[in-house]
Amino acid sequence: MMRVLFVTSECFPLVKTGGLADVSAALPLALTQHSVDVRILLPGYPAVIDGLEGRRVVRTLSDLPGGFSGRLLMGRLANGVTAYAIELAELFDRPGNPYLAPGGGDWADNHLRFAVLGWVAADFVQAPSSHHWRPDILHGHDWQAGLMPAYVAFQGGRRPGTVMTIHNIAYQGQFSPDTLSALRLPARSFQVEGVEYYGGIGFLKAGLYYADRLTTVSPTYAREIQSAGYGCGLEGLLAHRTDQLDGILNGVDYGIWNPASDPHLVSRYGPDQVEAKAANKAALQAEFGLEPKQEAPLFALVSRLTWHKGADLLLEALPALFARGGQLVVLGTGDKNLEAGLLRIAGRYPQAAGVHIGYDEALAHRIQAGADVLMVPSRAEPCGLTQLYALRYGTLPLVRRTGGLEDTVIDATPAALADGCATGFAFDEPSSAALTWTLRRAIDLFHHPERWRRLQRHAMTRDFGWAASAQAYAELYQKLRPGR
Ligand code: ADP
Ligand code: GLC
Repeated sequence: MMRVLFVTSECFPLVKTGGLADVSAALPLALTQHSVDVRILLPGYPAVIDGLEGRRVVRTLSDLPGGFSGRLLMGRLANGVTAYAIELAELFDRPGNPYLAPGGGDWADNHLRFAVLGWVAADFVQAPSSHHWRPDILHGHDWQAGLMPAYVAFQGGRRPGTVMTIHNIAYQGQFSPDTLSALRLPARSFQVEGVEYYGGIGFLKAGLYYADRLTTVSPTYAREIQSAGYGCGLEGLLAHRTDQLDGILNGVDYGIWNPASDPHLVSRYGPDQVEAKAANKAALQAEFGLEPKQEAPLFALVSRLTWHKGADLLLEALPALFARGGQLVVLGTGDKNLEAGLLRIAGRYPQAAGVHIGYDEALAHRIQAGADVLMVPSRAEPCGLTQLYALRYGTLPLVRRTGGLEDTVIDATPAALADGCATGFAFDEPSSAALTWTLRRAIDLFHHPERWRRLQRHAMTRDFGWAASAQAYAELYQKLRPGR
């Protein structure tokens, strides 16, 4: 059986700030169906160590980047996948967000924290291990794992296959050139054909330069990031490596996101009992203090509040939404200006808008079930998972046509409606005018219950499970297997 080590900084339910955590939990599980033995390596944040079932020490780690030492723990995630955690209190025993200090800025030693992650991953292949598990493939996710392929390139000895997956190219992990020796990178790596990036050290750049194969999380995003508007400076490197770059769509773990079995809902339902969704809407309206009207179209946003998610576009479109009798619920956290803007709206329209600032997994489920429309007005979206969850919950997604949103939502144009293939609403231009226009289209259709119901049923039966994508990853690993 092929052995793959996932190198990632998040994994649901232990540590999650976004979709990477959902993917890090669900994809390894799906890969076990394809005869791949996947294990996960995570930084030992307190919640990770506490959550590892049956954990035991398998190795001591010394002489790490920054001169640190620690221990490698091994245990199981709740879904049965085997996981390793780097126990190193000085770097990882910190409360709260995995990347940010309590004041909201990045931890000052993030370069060391995530260099250690990459180093320990690379070392898995070399170290004589008491637990006899040597990966054939190291699969890194996002900039936090970016130095892993660089360390593999410089360490000599056994050479595993390496894969880097870009979940979001906007986060690149860029650090001062002075950190080179603390990171234990050789001086010769500091060049354009290496880790150097705009005069500093780029973790994601390094990963994309040294890894054997690159993937990202949708076919459209794979194309977009090879162009200047979306590549955030890495478009040249990616265009150069286009033959080694694949876009593989994320999937959904329907064991967790399924309205027919979701324990968070007041009323469970499937495509044949969409009527039962109404009780969830009533409960959501009550929870947010909104007018209890089934006939008011209820729009929702569940999102990190950052510029690229387009919440600012939504702010400007809201008066038009309320003027047409629409309602809004928001669950999100992030940019303080966006949080304040949304709270202001909720204060001004208390019967029509409810805003919860914070992170709340159970509420995210209740919103998916209770809303009529889920909005994802992103300027860029590598894949996006919330629109996939929404489809399954019969909550029609309203998205900007970009990245994975473009690959997963079929706009309710007259032709698509006639054809029966529509599943939501999409707009092109990243402007509030375009968003407003699309909100209006959605409201018009909402007032035709028969047609709306047909769209819901179609959306709910689309299959965005992991099977096909896990197969694509398994084939990719096969191509890279050492000794192939
Ligand atoms: P991204 O990873 O860019 O944030 P995705 O759509 O891929 O976007 O994944 C977002 C994930 O995070 C989903 O599981 C979504 O439900 C969840 N999420 C986002 N914001 C919140 C929040 N404030 N509370 C609970 N869950 C949230
Ligand atoms: C990132 C992206 C999101 C994607 C997720 C999982 O956070 O922003 O679009 O769905 O990773 O791949």
